[in-house]
Amino acid sequence: MFSNSKICILGLGYIGLPSAALLANKGYQVQGVDVSSHVVDTINRGEIHIVEPELDAFVRSAVNSGHLKAGLQPETSDIFILAVPTPFHDGFVPNIDYVLEAAKSIADVVRPGNVVILESTSPVGTTEKVAKILEESGVDISQVHIAHCPERVLPGHIMRELVENDRIVGGVDPEAGEIVANFYRTFVSGEVLVTDARTAEMAKLTENSFRDVNIAFANELSILCDKFKIDVWELIRLANRHPRVNILQPGTGVGGHCIAVDPWFIVDAGGEDARIIRAAREINDYKTEWVTARVLSEVQHFEKSFDKKPTVACMGLAFKPNIDDLRESPALEVFQALVAENIDVLAVEPNLKEHKSIRLHDFIDASDTADIVIYLVAHKEFSDLTTKGKVLDFCGVTVKQK
Ligand SMILES: NC(=O)c1ccc[n+]([C@@H]2O[C@H](COP(=O)([O-])OP(=O)(O)OC[C@H]3O[C@@H](n4cnc5c(N)ncnc54)[C@H](O)[C@@H]3O)[C@@H](O)[C@H]2O)c1
Repeated sequence: MFSNSKICILGLGYIGLPSAALLANKGYQVQGVDVSSHVVDTINRGEIHIVEPELDAFVRSAVNSGHLKAGLQPETSDIFILAVPTPFHDGFVPNIDYVLEAAKSIADVVRPGNVVILESTSPVGTTEKVAKILEESGVDISQVHIAHCPERVLPGHIMRELVENDRIVGGVDPEAGEIVANFYRTFVSGEVLVTDARTAEMAKLTENSFRDVNIAFANELSILCDKFKIDVWELIRLANRHPRVNILQPGTGVGGHCIAVDPWFIVDAGGEDARIIRAAREINDYKTEWVTARVLSEVQHFEKSFDKKPTVACMGLAFKPNIDDLRESPALEVFQALVAENIDVLAVEPNLKEHKSIRLHDFIDASDTADIVIYLVAHKEFSDLTTKGKVLDFCGVTVKQK
């Protein structure tokens, strides 16, 4: 049914470009569309503008074979996939403007029988808004199959997970759900599960909120254990020996552009009824402030004891272990808060060679020389370092050595 289909993908970032390259390598004719001419030109040269393992080879071969070309304006196609950003405005209000703009931009080229898929992580009701925008722009939506299919890939493993993960497809009507699910079955080896659009939207937000709530529980425990003079790592290890308990690990907070963002889409719409989800967001953000306060109190203690300013090594700046991504990073926030307090801070991020505004230090030198060593991210490089200063371990990196 889809063998000769032409696919247009709007938004050529971390989700859209890997999807475009994968589908082109599967033999589909793919047009990638982006509003950035830099992105379009880079891809048309067979090159990539983002870092993701294996993506360069996929894009090169897709462009060389003529199956993938990029452009600034959508062309007539059989299937349209929207993979544009869904950030939030100030005050944690979801911003679906990119989705609505992308939907408007295809209205002139959508034809009866076409498929329109929203892949962007979206507040509940957004797929229906896409349908409405198309209808208001003159498209007969009774003839178009519209669905949501949220993406749940893990950066660093995108090319594999695009194929292997189970997918949820939520149709604006049941027929759209089935048609779109059959399209995903042409390249996904995981199971493709069909539901309605609102449930599919909520499922994606629920997955990330589930992670956030469970991390918040661990983070709250870590704060309480500090107060009660209990080792939280030992506590969790012991409690997890219960056959039905599985507590996650605490950390410096929660960062990145998914788990720290998507729960707010539920809170914004759910208001007073989204209590635990809001509380989890607040607890995880508070954990970052608490870490900063804890370090500042250690600095004060050092100054009183030794009558001089200590150097503090901030071990890790990324938002999670073993990556170079600093977006919404709680570790970066702690570092910046300490700098703002005029603390002598040594920034360490072994996954980055350089940073445009932060002077980075070698992790061995910094841990060796600093008066206070604070572990903010459990990067693998930190697992067997020697330190002579006071150690504050907020991510369990020293515990894992046991
Ligand atoms: N990156 C991830 O790991 C990940 C995982 C799951 C879900 N998501 C979701 O996928 C969606 C896309 O995220 P991303 O990480 O790929 O974003 P991104 O910022 O990497 O890329 C989005 C691209 O869309 C382009 N764009 C913006 N408006 C456009 C328009 N009207 N027409 C065409 N192109 C347009 C931008 O120029 C950009 O290149 C978001 O909703 C995100 O939450 C991302």
